[in-house]
Formats: sequence, structure tokens, C-alpha cells
Amino acid sequence: MVQIEWTDGMSVGVEMLDQDHQRLIALLNQLDDLAQGGEGAPSILTIIRDLVRYTEYHFESEERLMRLSRYPDTDAHVRIHRDIRRRMVSFEQKFLEDPTQSNLAPLQAFLSNWLTTHILGEDMKYRPYMTRDATQAPTDAA
Ligand SMILES: [Fe+2]
Repeated sequence: MVQIEWTDGMSVGVEMLDQDHQRLIALLNQLDDLAQGGEGAPSILTIIRDLVRYTEYHFESEERLMRLSRYPDTDAHVRIHRDIRRRMVSFEQKFLEDPTQSNLAPLQAFLSNWLTTHILGEDMKYRPYMTRDATQAPTDAA
């Protein structure tokens, strides 16, 4: 797998979310290192679990900020997150049942794809809303 490098062009304008994206990319690259190094299934599974868990945490933060910033397409974005999460868990499950390269490669391809196309496509759409006032004015969220 080609390793991903986070660049300024991937910034969504909110440092906390950029850091999450960087962390997710680092985990995915780490997964690739382990797979390339012929590492056994247990350590690969640990990274996969970390990825799933961190993705869940990150989606929650992102969804909270989208709501605070009154991003109008929040619901659609949340549905995309739910779909990504569901697919990640199913890839994880497949690898758990049969920890072979043929079950790892599709997971890596899926993650690599969502981390780049989702950030550059979907996440960028909320950028103008979040950088406007959202993160500074959470008091009028009610
Ligand atoms: Fe997102």
C-alpha cells in the first residue's frame, strides 16, 4: 500500500480535527509497516482495533462540531460516517475470522480511500462553516 502523507491541503481549518486526521493516517501507515514487515495477526489486529476506536471517537467530535457550526448537511455527513463505520467493522470482523493478507488488503484499501477522498471531499464542505464562528461560539448551540 502507498503510504499517505498529510499535507496542508488536507486541512479542514480546525486544528483538533486536523490532528485526528493525522493520527488516523499515522495508524494506517503503521498498519502498512506491520503488514509489510510480515508481522503476525495479533499486532495487526491491535492496530485495526485502534483505528476503529479512534475513528468512532473522531466521528463523534466531528459531528458535534458540525452541529455547533450549523453545517446544513450534517445529517447526510453523519449517514456517511455511519456507513464508513459499518464497513470498517465488517472488514475488521472478516480479518478476525481469517487473518490473512487477502482479508487485510481490502481493509487497507478502504481506509486509505476514505481517509483521502472523504477528507478532501466531504470534510472540506464543512470547512467554511466551522472556520466562520462555530468553534468560537458554542454558547448559542441551544
Ligand atoms: Fe467526516
